[in-house]
Amino acid sequence: MGSGGREHALAWKLAQSPRCAKLFAAPGNPGIASHAELVALDATDHAAVIAFCAAQAIGLVVVGPEAPLVDGLTDSLRAEGVPVFGPSQAAAQLEGSKAFTKELCARHNIPTAGFERVRSEGEGLAALAKFGAPVVVKADGLAAGKGVTVAMTLAEAEEAVREIFSGKFGAAGAEAVIEEFLEGEEASFFALTDGQTVVPLGSAQDHKRVGDGDVGPNTGGMGAYSPAPVLTPLLTGEALERIVVPTVRAMAEEGTPYSGVLYAGLMLTKSGVQLIEYNARFGDPECQVLMLRLEDDLVELLLACAEGSLATIPSPRLSPETALTVVMAAEGYPGTPKKGGAIAGVEAAEASGAKVFHAGTALADGELVANGGRVLNVTARGATVTEAQQRAYAAVDLIQAPDLFCRRDIGWREMAREAEG
Ligand code: AMP
Ligand code: GLY
Repeated sequence: MGSGGREHALAWKLAQSPRCAKLFAAPGNPGIASHAELVALDATDHAAVIAFCAAQAIGLVVVGPEAPLVDGLTDSLRAEGVPVFGPSQAAAQLEGSKAFTKELCARHNIPTAGFERVRSEGEGLAALAKFGAPVVVKADGLAAGKGVTVAMTLAEAEEAVREIFSGKFGAAGAEAVIEEFLEGEEASFFALTDGQTVVPLGSAQDHKRVGDGDVGPNTGGMGAYSPAPVLTPLLTGEALERIVVPTVRAMAEEGTPYSGVLYAGLMLTKSGVQLIEYNARFGDPECQVLMLRLEDDLVELLLACAEGSLATIPSPRLSPETALTVVMAAEGYPGTPKKGGAIAGVEAAEASGAKVFHAGTALADGELVANGGRVLNVTARGATVTEAQQRAYAAVDLIQAPDLFCRRDIGWREMAREAEG
């Protein structure tokens, strides 16, 4: 279920499995169509999805984005006996409610920034006075990445609180969380779980700002690479033992077992690894780089998460090589993207050895055109971040798409470290 670059990467990998007799994608995109039959199913119409699964005897549903998870699609499918990869609605609160996650962390001593949950503008402003600046203000619910303000001044933070309680984010802004500012480098960590067993999948680093050098507005992610060496084996162990495993255990103990992929946004601070946030799904574009490195059968792994049998199969193996992806986005993104721009040269880019995942693409009179904010994910592997980056940009340069742009510095943090040796 889904239609972005993340879902293209998942479909590409699922289709390679000997256990995948037939793959459908709903709604999919023109890239996904090379691996799957596209079906026009509306993820919010649970009855229609259930009827389709029954008619086609679907053996596994993989839910890509967060919205259908938070909307309880997995519960509806499970109630009908359809195996499904992705957490229940109750468990997806780990992404769907910042206050839920912060309070779970507080109950179970999981390291995360100090916080206060506030339910009105007045409460928010009073909390800010206690925290001082810098401080972080977050709308509680899903706000498409726009609900978080990292405020360097109290005035900025107060403005963010007023904005949330003015109703700008609808129900997602009915409550807010005020958080202590954490200083450090960010990294993402992905683990698979069936609710009991937890296996590490891998690390990645995303590039959220639209411009080179990490400037400009936030986006869904302009590029990523995996692994993120900054998350050393020692820090990975710490993240697993102190954050991810205790969270999965806590969710089971509290009667809302979490299954699926758990995506932990981490801050590597001087005083250890801290949880910034959880997502209840794969990252986009982090999934694309993980899938390019995954050496195992994705159907087997995701089915084991769905069926509670993760302890009975070998842990996932990822190539030690680096994978790096560059997002090509439509002019205007992350504001209003220009649609319809022509795209040529994808075949040449793939012939160079890269893998081009489609995100917001469409076919117009048989020709590939841009149809969304993030359009293509040009992905390559290499022995180092530097080599993977060079291959990815060489492939980007084979694509002719005058209405698309990309960052030119994906991987810069790690490349600087590689250059230092
Ligand atoms: P979130 O949606 O919670 O991941 O927040 C979006 C971004 O805001 C994160 O990727 C961080 O860059 C930043 N951020 C969130 N919480 C904090 C925090 N407590 N301290 C510093 N930066 C934060
Ligand atoms: N790339 C960030 C996310 O998927 O949330």
